[in-house]
Amino acid sequence: MAKTVPAQAVPPRPQPVKVGANTQYRPPAYVNQGLRNPNMNLPSQFSGTTVSHSRGLSNNPYVAMTFDDGPHPQNTPRLLDMLRARNIKATFYVIGGNVDRYPHIVRRIVAEGHEIGNHTYTHRKLTSLGDSEVKKEMRRTEDAIVRAAGVRPRTMRPPYGALLTRQRSAVFADFGYPTIMWSVDPNDWKRPGPSVVASRILKGAHNGAIILAHDLHAPTVDAMPKTFDGLLSRGFQFISVSQLLAQKGQA
Ligand code: NI
Repeated sequence: MAKTVPAQAVPPRPQPVKVGANTQYRPPAYVNQGLRNPNMNLPSQFSGTTVSHSRGLSNNPYVAMTFDDGPHPQNTPRLLDMLRARNIKATFYVIGGNVDRYPHIVRRIVAEGHEIGNHTYTHRKLTSLGDSEVKKEMRRTEDAIVRAAGVRPRTMRPPYGALLTRQRSAVFADFGYPTIMWSVDPNDWKRPGPSVVASRILKGAHNGAIILAHDLHAPTVDAMPKTFDGLLSRGFQFISVSQLLAQKGQA
């Protein structure tokens, strides 16, 4: 007796790829509906001739969180989720090479209202480079950011904080970028652990602080919920570096 041949399962038809409008899109649901960042509409147009800044004015409880060396394919999206959940804005000093690798993450950073700054293309120490090479580092990165997200960075941060006074003036003249340093440094790149990173930032925070951190490192991102919630509970509000500079300009 012949065995019954089992009926072949008909493979499901591949669904057509939807190319029309993204009707699935919903605006992000904030964890806390209260407006945690009420100063999004603060002016961000800054002017003036100050070439370097390491902090903002201290008469308002504003801080600028800055994240260097990204975008990173896992850590940056994870950080963006944390920022979005709290409706707070940050500034990302991105490396041009990483922008070209992960342009979709740069687009997300911009789409979610954060600011992008120039952190060079190759993350070399600029003090040992000639003027034309410094210019090339800045130009390549600016071009990559414009290609990825359609916005032009307005400030720069030198890798390792290393940029000669003369070079700062040249970059300011060539690109209009003020050099942005910082006033709070948790040394997170030494990987002291998330709770140490958070407590160093909370201890160092002050009105007008520019806080340095690196979204390249997973433990830094792990430290951020505690950091953000601690700063929020102490009454700090998060604004971008350009907004901080615009405050300075008004004084
Ligand atoms: Ni860096």
